Amino acid sequence: MVVEEGSLDPVDELGELAAQLRAHLEWQQRFGLRGVPTGPTPRTPAAAPDPAAAAAAPGALATIRADLGDCTRCGLAGGRQHLVYGAGSPTADLVFVGEAPGQEEDRQGEPFVGPAGQLLTKMIGAMGLGRDDVYICNIIKCRPPGNRDPEPDEVAACEPFLRRQLDAIKPRIIVALGRYAAQCLLRSTAPIGALRGHWHEYQGIPLMPTYHPAALLRNESYKRPAWDDLKQVMAEMDRLGLKRRR
Ligand code: URA
Repeated sequence: MVVEEGSLDPVDELGELAAQLRAHLEWQQRFGLRGVPTGPTPRTPAAAPDPAAAAAAPGALATIRADLGDCTRCGLAGGRQHLVYGAGSPTADLVFVGEAPGQEEDRQGEPFVGPAGQLLTKMIGAMGLGRDDVYICNIIKCRPPGNRDPEPDEVAACEPFLRRQLDAIKPRIIVALGRYAAQCLLRSTAPIGALRGHWHEYQGIPLMPTYHPAALLRNESYKRPAWDDLKQVMAEMDRLGLKRRR
């Protein structure tokens, strides 16, 4: 859910906030989590890029990878061929976050290289970017059997590393690919059809949810709205003066 600044009166806004809190608590319950909500926050002005942090990003990503090691923090370790860490520019302005590696990603150790990944690569190209300009990763780093949804304990074990990766990269914009990634990052139970097309925030970074490329392969009618979402991302990139080919 998005609360546009100045678009609600205070009573409506309280209602919206209560609904957001309820959704967050339902999400927490579903994942067996307890504690203080850390969900989406009202949009804050985009932070200015920090050149020193950008210079440190490649080393920081390597340190996080080393900390993961030959990870056995959850049960997915036993079934994997490769841990899929993430790929692309360590100083990317734009990060795409998917759900979990699929069969081809598990085989190659690279995110989004199967059929859905090939479509994602084309979408990135249509935005005037290449895979090396952006960073691509997933909520979890090992393939769940049969591509089932990740389990709460798997997310709990893996997400801290994603958070550290995003802290290191400091992207200006995040695109969440599909229901699972969007709900997980936003601590929301709202359907992807309601989340997509609107700006949200993850750790102070503007986040645009959109349909997963695999969903676009299954259902052509999602292509137009997904492209509309990416047009919003391109407009925001241009507004922020971020580099892409026009
Ligand atoms: N689907 C995802 O969510 N991530 C991948 O890396 C590949 C397919």
